[in-house]
Amino acid sequence: MNFNLSEEHLMIRDAARDFAQTELLPGVIERDEKQEFPAEQIKKLGELGFMGMMVSPENGGSGMDTMSYVLAMEELSKIDASASVVVSVNNSLVCWGLETFGSAEQKAKYLPRLASGEIIGSFCLSEPEAGSDATSQATTAVDMGDHYLLNGTKNWITNGRTCEIALVIAQTDREKGHRGINALIVEKGMEGFVVGKKEDKLGIRGSDTHTLLFNDVKVPKENRIGEDGFGFKFAMKTLSGGRIGIAAQALGIAQGALDLALSYSKERTTFGKPIHEHQAIAFKLADMEMKIEQARLLVYKAAWLKDQGMPYDKESAMAKLAASEAAMWVSTEAVQVHGGYGFVKEYHVERLMRDAKITQIYEGTSEIQRIVISRDMIKNS
Ligand code: CAA
Repeated sequence: MNFNLSEEHLMIRDAARDFAQTELLPGVIERDEKQEFPAEQIKKLGELGFMGMMVSPENGGSGMDTMSYVLAMEELSKIDASASVVVSVNNSLVCWGLETFGSAEQKAKYLPRLASGEIIGSFCLSEPEAGSDATSQATTAVDMGDHYLLNGTKNWITNGRTCEIALVIAQTDREKGHRGINALIVEKGMEGFVVGKKEDKLGIRGSDTHTLLFNDVKVPKENRIGEDGFGFKFAMKTLSGGRIGIAAQALGIAQGALDLALSYSKERTTFGKPIHEHQAIAFKLADMEMKIEQARLLVYKAAWLKDQGMPYDKESAMAKLAASEAAMWVSTEAVQVHGGYGFVKEYHVERLMRDAKITQIYEGTSEIQRIVISRDMIKNS
């Protein structure tokens, strides 16, 4: 087993770390408070190749592996999970899905602009009545011969307002259940594509999460991804990789919170000594470190499996489950280490705690990850 990162991996990690410190950290508190999308920062991330990290160079991307993507996500998320979720959705749900399952024309038309960050994409699966139960799509894509007529509402869509294209999952033939679902590329300019309400969220407040409405949108047949009826499997396969990205985000949030707690514990003195010399704090720091390292091993393993072309559905679910639980626990403890200072915005740690919560919910709740893991165990036993 080789736990060393390559020179290239280290360079990518350092570049992302540097970007997070110089470009994301200034203003992160204000963006969170004002729910302001990090538009300038996302544009720069695109110019640096972080918006299409795993896209091949022939499609305009950086041609990097999943491990590189995980390292970048971890670094960006230590500082700004609102920015990193934009990076994650664009990279793993939109670009990866399109490059892996899209037609040559679709790749040529959309990938170079997505990978460069010129435009960003969204992934529209969740609905008011279909979050975890993703087969119960109420959105319909009726086959009209040369186009689909798309009608429905999608909820909690990351990049909802800023996206130029949306990958929309919709039911074409209800009789066929999940085999009657399609994934369509819908452009912002198409008539009937309406951006609805913006969510006022607990965390990742700088990302723009919206309801999207589709009212008789005519989507050309050539915008369907894969064969007729492939949409549900497209969503599942894409989410499986996406979960590695969100696991890396959770890992970064946890590490960011620990970094703050560790440094505070060296500065802050009570009862005549730095607080890390009190066992109450020392034990917390040790447990935080251990939980993060456990999660990191799972996240890196899932990325490694994906890079080897080996199955990773169970491992990506385990990585997301472990890392999101670590993020929630570690960030809550980090607030506790800070005492009253942890409860105020200028110390950053309360934001990390709020941001951590969504990692247990989006791209499948913790309960969904357990379903994926246990089903995989049963299938392979
Ligand atoms: N790869 C390939 N095929 C898969 C698959 C995978 N990873 N997972 C399931 N499938 C296939 C199954 O094999 C089955 O196909 P067959 O019938 O041909 O064998 C089909 O899909 C249906 O599978 P299930 O019977 O397992 O489906 P289910 O209805 O029981 O649901 C589920 C399974 C795992 C619960 C699924 O619904 C799920 O993952 N739900 C959560 C959805 C989710 O993550 N939503 C998040 C929204 S996106 C988001 O958050 C993005 C963002 O903005 C940040």
